[in-house]
Amino acid sequence: MVPKYSSFASSGPSARNCRVEVLLDEPLGTISPNIYGHFTENLGGVVYDGIWVGEKSSIPNVNGIRRELVEQMRKIKAPVIRFPGGCFADSYDWRDGIGPADKRPRRTNFWEQVEPPNSPPIHKYDPNQFGTNEFVHFCKLIGSQPYLAANLRSLPAEEFYRWVEYCNSPAGSTTLAEMRAASGNTEPFQVRFWGVGNESWGCGGNFTAQEYAVEFRRFTTWVPSFGQELSFIASGPNDDSWDWTRGFLEEIVRKGAGQLRSIYGLALHYYAWNLSRGRTHDWNAGKGDALKFDVADWYELLRQGEVMESLITGHWQIMGEIDREHQIKLVVDEWGPWYRPGSEMTPGDILEQTPTLRDAVFSGMTLDIFNQHPDKIAMANCAQLINCLNSPYLAHEDKFCVTPVGHVFDMYAAHQGGQSLRAVFSAPSVHYQRDANPASFAGLTGSASLHDKVLVLTAVNPHVSEACETEIGIPGATIKSATATVLTSSDIHAHNSFEQRDVIVPQTRTVETKGHVLTYRFPPASVTKLVVNLQ
Ligand code: AHR
Repeated sequence: MVPKYSSFASSGPSARNCRVEVLLDEPLGTISPNIYGHFTENLGGVVYDGIWVGEKSSIPNVNGIRRELVEQMRKIKAPVIRFPGGCFADSYDWRDGIGPADKRPRRTNFWEQVEPPNSPPIHKYDPNQFGTNEFVHFCKLIGSQPYLAANLRSLPAEEFYRWVEYCNSPAGSTTLAEMRAASGNTEPFQVRFWGVGNESWGCGGNFTAQEYAVEFRRFTTWVPSFGQELSFIASGPNDDSWDWTRGFLEEIVRKGAGQLRSIYGLALHYYAWNLSRGRTHDWNAGKGDALKFDVADWYELLRQGEVMESLITGHWQIMGEIDREHQIKLVVDEWGPWYRPGSEMTPGDILEQTPTLRDAVFSGMTLDIFNQHPDKIAMANCAQLINCLNSPYLAHEDKFCVTPVGHVFDMYAAHQGGQSLRAVFSAPSVHYQRDANPASFAGLTGSASLHDKVLVLTAVNPHVSEACETEIGIPGATIKSATATVLTSSDIHAHNSFEQRDVIVPQTRTVETKGHVLTYRFPPASVTKLVVNLQ
């Protein structure tokens, strides 16, 4: 058994002295709510079982969509949802998912070949009951914007235009608008965000960056807009593939710098998956377990979380060499930890894993990094919403739970739309043994945003056993009152399940304040949100 680390107490274990300085006069830009976006692929139990239970189901639903999921997503103010993939997108014919439900074809799912033998047939053979209408309805119920990923690998550009036409052409204007109306949707869906392929360097067509740029130009030239602003998101790099970013943009501007205006975002994908401590780079052999891990594994994952910062600044710099005015923003539309199979709460759900406190700390750290770069990041989408990788929710039949990652999204929703402020976090580094070699990373990280006279400060303390006794200075401000919401546990493996839904939930309490300084003890292994009311 891996030992527990009894660590959570406001006065228990040893503490390091830390300091945070929030600089009210150094605004970094508005935090786009879309940084708090989600990703739903037709993969394993994400759509069928997770989102879609069917209209005739005894599971509480709204027109076939799982009601509890909708309620939770409204709570976290989910701003945007990406669909239908992922790799699935480049095998999907959107026409299969429209029209009368009983007439829709059954198709082999992209993931069929890697589905385990015990997965249900509905995961292997797509019944197309959840298509464009149902997805847009799902978004509307929540108040989210749809972000559709088009098939660039196996459908012609014309089908992309037609999908836009189906979604956005005015009532009664086209045959496709009439088909939309026949399903009860007279008014256009007004879909703004369109992904043009997915991972086009791999499952999305195996293109070179230059080949993909040519395809991108072809797909996005003269798409009918129907008065709706269209924001095209190009398939971008996988983690540190700098050559993809450079190669793509160089080829795009071969037809003139004006071509840059056709691109809203460049999609960056980053998964933290290699827990081998440097022993291998093999995609399967390098993965660790979601639930069974030791302290070094905890730190290894979080150290990989830090990498997001250098990916953002590195790609941004390359983008700036070609796109000098930085018209194109980064869209991190897949991110999160990825473990080997084995922790699925529903056996047979491919790519499902059980998020723990470790994943909550990773997620808080990642969202804090996004908050610090509001000028660079227009959108981010956690992979994936339910029954998958870094899922905020898990569900099976009538069972449902919010994972620690879901609680982090709930806590961090307070940042949405705020003015990001520069905040300087000073803390002794975390040191640990990476097998025989010493390794270290930042001891306290976080972000701050201002909403009129309310300051939201979030922070993660990654240390498994030491608290951070922290003086938080807000020069120029007088503090009226403050509350702290903390997600932590005495067990670094803590997670929720269908049977025990509330093993790990955030706790809120009032914090004592004095003048323009706040003293706060961040517990070990924790994610914290401080809401500070200023005078
Ligand atoms: O999120 C799972 C898969 O990871 C997606 O389908 C793909 O885009 C990525 O490789």
